[in-house]
Parts: sequence; structure tokens; C-alpha cells
Amino acid sequence: MAIERTFSIIKPDATARNLTGAVNAIIEKAGLRIVAQKRILMTRAQAETFYAVHKARPFFGELVDFMISGPVVVQVLEGEGAILKYRDVMGATDPSKAADGTIRKAHAKSIGENSVHGSDAADTAAIEIAQFFSGNEIVG
Ligand code: CMP
Repeated sequence: MAIERTFSIIKPDATARNLTGAVNAIIEKAGLRIVAQKRILMTRAQAETFYAVHKARPFFGELVDFMISGPVVVQVLEGEGAILKYRDVMGATDPSKAADGTIRKAHAKSIGENSVHGSDAADTAAIEIAQFFSGNEIVG
């Protein structure tokens, strides 16, 4: 399988509970390498752009409000089959359906406050990485 990069966000519910290191430990134990990382407060415009695909969904406003409610840690993760691997490591969007050993099973509070985001495909990973990182900020 090819070496890929995926985009990750440690969301405000997790940073508020001081779980950045706990989430990163799960990521690294799964064999993914954190090749870029920064802690930011997203602007409303950044969050609306990032989640534009969900604009028509009833939870869009709530989702944007949540994502700008506190610090997030944006990351680029690298590894063999990183996109699918990270989705496995995160677990299901709804933490009540997430498998044992996943980040969301261990830490997520609800379907909205679900601790982490990960790209769903190679094209979205490239777009999401480019929204938050310039090339020289990613060091593999
Ligand atoms: P994420 O992977 O960041 O991508 C879209 C997000 O929308 C998803 O994680 C959830 O946090 C959020 N989401 C999905 N469904 C709902 C819902 N029913 N109510 C609130 N937020 C939701």
C-alpha cells in the first residue's frame, strides 16, 4: 500500500479536556506519523469553508459554532494507507457506535463533540491539508 497523507483535527471538546497528548499517543501507536501540527483558534470563515460540503445539513450552524468554540489542533498524518487507517483509528462518527480501542470510543462525548476529524478520501485530504498548511510546514 502507498504512503499517504491525511488531514486531522483534534476538536475543541478534546483540547478542552487536555487530551491532545492522549489522542496523539493513539495516532502514533497505530503507526501514523505526525508530520505537521499546530494549535489554532479557527475563524468562522475557516470553519464554514472547511465544512462547506455540510452547508445544507440541519447541524451545520451547530457544527461551525462548536469548531470555533475553543482551540483545535490541526495535523497532517503520514503513513501506509493513512486515510483509511486514520478513519479506523478514529472510529465511527457516533461514539456510541465506535469500536473498542478507537479515539472516539475512548474520548468522544457525542456525535457533534466527537473529538477528532479525519479526511474521507485522497482528494479531500489534499484540499483540507492545503487549507491549513503550506508545503514547508510539513516535514516528513
Ligand atoms: P467530522 O468528521 O468532522 O465531519 C462532519 C461532522 O459533522 C462530523 O464529524 C460530526 O462531528 C458532525 N455531525 C455529523 N452528524 C451530526 C449531527 N447529527 N449533529 C451534529 N453534528 C453532526
